[in-house]
Amino acid sequence: MQLPDELDPAGFLAEFWQKKPLFVRAGVDAPLPQLSPDELAWLATLPDVESRLVFTERRQGKTTYRVDHGPFDDSVLAALPDRDWTLLVQDIDKHLPEFRRWFDLVPFVPDWRIDDLMISFAAPGGSVGPHVDNYDVFLCQAAGQREWRLTRADSVSESGANGELALLNEFAADQSWIAQEHDILYLPPGVPHWGIAVDRCMTFSIGMRAPEWPEFASASERLFPTRKIADQEAIGRSLFYRDPDLQADEASPGLISRRALLRARDWVAACHPDDEQIAAILGSVVTDPKAWLSPEHPGMAESHDIARDSGKRAELALHGMAKIAFARTDNGSRGGGFLFVNGFHHSADAVQIDQIERLCRSRRLTADDLAQWRAKPALQDLLAWLLSHGAFDLGTE
Ligand code: SIN
Ligand code: CO
Repeated sequence: MQLPDELDPAGFLAEFWQKKPLFVRAGVDAPLPQLSPDELAWLATLPDVESRLVFTERRQGKTTYRVDHGPFDDSVLAALPDRDWTLLVQDIDKHLPEFRRWFDLVPFVPDWRIDDLMISFAAPGGSVGPHVDNYDVFLCQAAGQREWRLTRADSVSESGANGELALLNEFAADQSWIAQEHDILYLPPGVPHWGIAVDRCMTFSIGMRAPEWPEFASASERLFPTRKIADQEAIGRSLFYRDPDLQADEASPGLISRRALLRARDWVAACHPDDEQIAAILGSVVTDPKAWLSPEHPGMAESHDIARDSGKRAELALHGMAKIAFARTDNGSRGGGFLFVNGFHHSADAVQIDQIERLCRSRRLTADDLAQWRAKPALQDLLAWLLSHGAFDLGTE
């Protein structure tokens, strides 16, 4: 991403990340995969794709918003009016893995903090209404123009009128911009915002995620049932993991940094003083896929077969839906850590972790890599474990 002249990634993280909005003119500085409105509409007809249509309804001077959930019939999408609706499709990166390249716009954010690429297409006047989000987001204008209005959190009130949309009452903007193709608006969590399509426009949102206390607590209970995690409200902790002190060197493919482990330990008030426990919980939570986005995977016997037999697969690529990460923990001479795939964890020695790091970087095992993995029993076992937990795409040979 092309940051403004005076700002480098370290400056962006120090001044803006998790703190305040930044509007960047022409921030999209590289050619990236594009999707046409028709292709987006086609995705919204598919059953395993999460999609929504939000309609802006204006009646007697009052505006309300209505949401319908996909999958949608072709006929519904073909009959949409000329104005006042938005179609939003989540997890484009999982369904069309080449769209992961959009994440290259934010190389200073660890990949495990990124949730998905959402694409919206709006007719003029289309909007999801004024709202706040719980997570950081980079809103990239891909086509057409959208007006963004922002205000301060203490100057808004919740609107009870729009049910599940959890909207705010319309507000007078403190700041506003007309985003043109290639502009990027970065928003930290909790900033009231309201995007309204000026003309037919497309917005690509790189949305973050951060572990939420209840999911952290339930992973802790599942993995370490004898150690009780504190009540979040009772000890006055934030509902979400936060990292306003994030450093650019923490972003390396697949890596859950040492600083992230320390932050998580502080966040849960050292209920898990042990590095290994914190790593196991954090990694399991952040790689847990949405239920409908779990890659299919072979059983253990077939996985061992593929891992052993050089005639079976010449190359392996990570599955588009696979969530993979690793953490190095300081455990004396072993110098290893954990690897995580789709919500599961596996302890790993230093050699295994090094190979996982390479895999996270290239997202594939070439014929040479596979020969190396198959030749070493510890790597062969790890390969079988990865296969049996849905790390690789076995759809095409
Ligand atoms: C959109 O793309 O229409 C809405 C994104 C947002 O406001 O969070
Ligand atoms: Co939003």
